[in-house]
Amino acid sequence: MSPLDIDFVRNQFPAFSEPSLQGQAFFENAGGSYTCGQVIDRLTRFYTQRKVQPYAPYEASRLAGEEMDEARRRMAALLGVATEELSFGPSTTQNTYVLARAFGQWMQPGEAIVVTNQDHEANSGPWRRLADQGIELREWKINPATGHLNPEDLEPLLDESVRLVCFPHCSNVVGEINPVTEITAMAHAAGAFVCVDGVSFAPHGFPDVGELGPDIYLFSAYKTFGPHQGLMVIRKALGDLLPNQGHYFNAGEPGKRFTPAGPDHAQVAACAGMADYFDALCDHHGGPAEGATARAAYVNGLVRQHESRLLQPLLDAVAARNDLRLIGPARAEQRAPTVALALGRPAEPVAAALAEHGIMAGGGDFYAVRALEAMGVDPAQGVLRLSFTHYTTQAEIDQLLNALDRVL
Ligand SMILES: Cc1ncc(COP(=O)(O)O)c(C=O)c1O
Repeated sequence: MSPLDIDFVRNQFPAFSEPSLQGQAFFENAGGSYTCGQVIDRLTRFYTQRKVQPYAPYEASRLAGEEMDEARRRMAALLGVATEELSFGPSTTQNTYVLARAFGQWMQPGEAIVVTNQDHEANSGPWRRLADQGIELREWKINPATGHLNPEDLEPLLDESVRLVCFPHCSNVVGEINPVTEITAMAHAAGAFVCVDGVSFAPHGFPDVGELGPDIYLFSAYKTFGPHQGLMVIRKALGDLLPNQGHYFNAGEPGKRFTPAGPDHAQVAACAGMADYFDALCDHHGGPAEGATARAAYVNGLVRQHESRLLQPLLDAVAARNDLRLIGPARAEQRAPTVALALGRPAEPVAAALAEHGIMAGGGDFYAVRALEAMGVDPAQGVLRLSFTHYTTQAEIDQLLNALDRVL
């Protein structure tokens, strides 16, 4: 496999030629990524040429509806699921909120849901609130020293009353990639469905959700180079089983059953730009000509190789310091390039000091309050989070390492 052509990659992102951002190295990608040109072009086209109610019988409307359908079809293909198994909602938090209501209506008091204390609150709080209606919540706990979520600790929590197991593909502060297929197999063997928060993983490669195995897979397009939408895969068997949350007359439309808000037409349409971007990467690097998941897997390989090569020296540099605690694994192959550091003091002023050196990063709890508390990190102090993606360069990593040396 050829290495990722970083110049080609950066040419796809208008932010890298934006004068006001020159000299600024972006390390808060886990909060939200830059948007690729393909998505911006589609948004602009929609707003200028197609900003009408879609699916009506006049040309502009027909094109608007077609482009929304195209986005759904191509993103579903890329994720290895059927088109009707993909829904677009306003955000992942909104999507889990609606899903929790659906599960709450479907489940009986005394039945159980497993949640973790590694998750972002989006995949935790909405489920935990179901305790108010008699549903039992069981917490799958991380190792307080390492943040690791051990599948062996899930086993004793599973029995015939568990209907759902919720966990992250990758936590937004621990960064470790969880073995989704292994965990899903354990949950399925116990008769439970599985809901995976893929928000922190998907920016580092769109997974083949069909092959991965969970019943629900969620991520946020504004972190995967796209518009501000929450994408939600609900496999058909589960989608048919859960009660409809949309208008009663739309119950037969899978894409509307769990997205009660009217869709943001332009943003849904612009999601096809993420598929355009992946296609451009695949073709430019000589990837396979056929098969949406095979093409995505090829791009994921390029991305992973580039990110890991940049990540290991950063992990080595921070692991070698005795004035901070690296959260999560110190080996690049085990994690995403989302590196949280507990400093033993408030992180935000350190992020502000880094900004003086052209580093855009953040400090805080990143809504992973339970995970930080479990690891003994005061959420009020928070962590300094340094997160990058495949468009980051070696020069930016060097700039970051220099800035860290000066500021810490
Ligand atoms: C891991 C993780 N899950 C869920 C969310 C929530 O996503 P959204 O902002 O789309 O509600 C975030 C947002 O930062 C996140 O990092």
